[in-house]
Amino acid sequence: MEYDVLVIGAGAAGLMTAIVAGGRGRRVLVVDHANRAGKKILMSGGGRCNFTNTATSPANFLSANPHFCKSALARYTPWDFIAMVDRHRIAWHEKAPGQLFCDDSSKQIVRMLLDECAAVGVRVETGCPVSRLRAAAGGFACDTPLGHVRAASLVVATGGLSIPSLGATGFGYEVATQFGHAVLPVRAGLVPLTLSGKHQERFEGLSGVALPVEARANGAAFRDAMLFTHRGLSGPAILQISSYWEPGTDLRIDLLPGRDAGEALREGRAERPVAELKTVLSGLLPRRLAERLCEVWLPNKPMRQFRDAELNAMGAQLADWPVVASGTEGYRTAEVTLGGVDTDEVSSSTMMSRRQPGLFFVGEVLDVTGHLGGYNFQWAWASGHAAGLAV
Ligand code: FDA
Repeated sequence: MEYDVLVIGAGAAGLMTAIVAGGRGRRVLVVDHANRAGKKILMSGGGRCNFTNTATSPANFLSANPHFCKSALARYTPWDFIAMVDRHRIAWHEKAPGQLFCDDSSKQIVRMLLDECAAVGVRVETGCPVSRLRAAAGGFACDTPLGHVRAASLVVATGGLSIPSLGATGFGYEVATQFGHAVLPVRAGLVPLTLSGKHQERFEGLSGVALPVEARANGAAFRDAMLFTHRGLSGPAILQISSYWEPGTDLRIDLLPGRDAGEALREGRAERPVAELKTVLSGLLPRRLAERLCEVWLPNKPMRQFRDAELNAMGAQLADWPVVASGTEGYRTAEVTLGGVDTDEVSSSTMMSRRQPGLFFVGEVLDVTGHLGGYNFQWAWASGHAAGLAV
């Protein structure tokens, strides 16, 4: 079988590449080893797909080369994707500032992408693994259950390692290596953190407690909710900071973000001098957490017995609480994979390899990882669009 373009991976980036290439009259085959297309899209956003973020900017992405994502993001914006969603009459809403979700179901986004593929004659085959992939005269060749396939352009859109049960594999990294590309070290991102030993025991029983915090590590800071789990910490603030955290990195939590904690404690003392610290703290933090802090770390006594300096020091402690995480929940639950195909040898305007003409990398397989909130799909759409124009 002869095609102009073979796309491996029928996820967000692969389908977008196919739609744009098909729209240019290219003969496109998309293959995926999973039994259906867009499995991660289906799972995303709690089943409603946070399909973009209107505040997308290069600052929302991690990459060894922070400039790499700029060109593609500028040429395919959230509004371009919203226009497609609107054309398909998919109702959506803004959940948190900038974060757009389907009103009904993420199935609508997959349906839209497959309809767009069909409209431009793209062939999409699921349950279709690829083997013996190689460069051949005039392009690439491989074997599939459909038979022998040859194509002038090959697009690697196989994503990262997150959630193997949804079809994630390291295939894209293997192809990159096969063609001489460097693959930067990968690790789980947007993932809950685990605690162990005494660090876990001290928070035992707090599972389910949530509060707004500011989480800080490696120069990054995210203000959002944090959730205690059976094994450690989760919630959007923790997922966000997990992409910046590595074992041994200092992780700090401001338990009273946006407030002067020392002042709040002094006010508490003025209002309730006979009350114990844990009672006053329960007015500022979830009660179970306040009690635990006073059992393990803070001196619990009537407020009037604290001097200003003690309350200020305690406030400073609450605003910069050190957390010793032991690791992450790993790829089993991670939303993304950090690292991946080094962007140094990939064109930022076309996504084409500088080593192997006709070879393209799009989406999460590249060393470009977005923050939580619709940015990863926007990168998939934008990089797919850029490649779709060039294949
Ligand atoms: P993607 O992973 O989507 O697609 C890769 C495809 O390649 C898959 O279909 C896979 O089966 C296929 N494949 C892999 N190996 C293969 C092989 N050897 N042969 C053939 N095919 C192969 N982002 C966001 O912006 N908003 C959100 O709401 C969410 N929510 C979310 C929830 C959950 C649970 C997860 C795990 C992730 C998210 N994300 C997200 C992240 C987002 O899903 C992710 O960044 C994009 O799907 C990446 O798109 P890609 O097309 O690059 O890979």
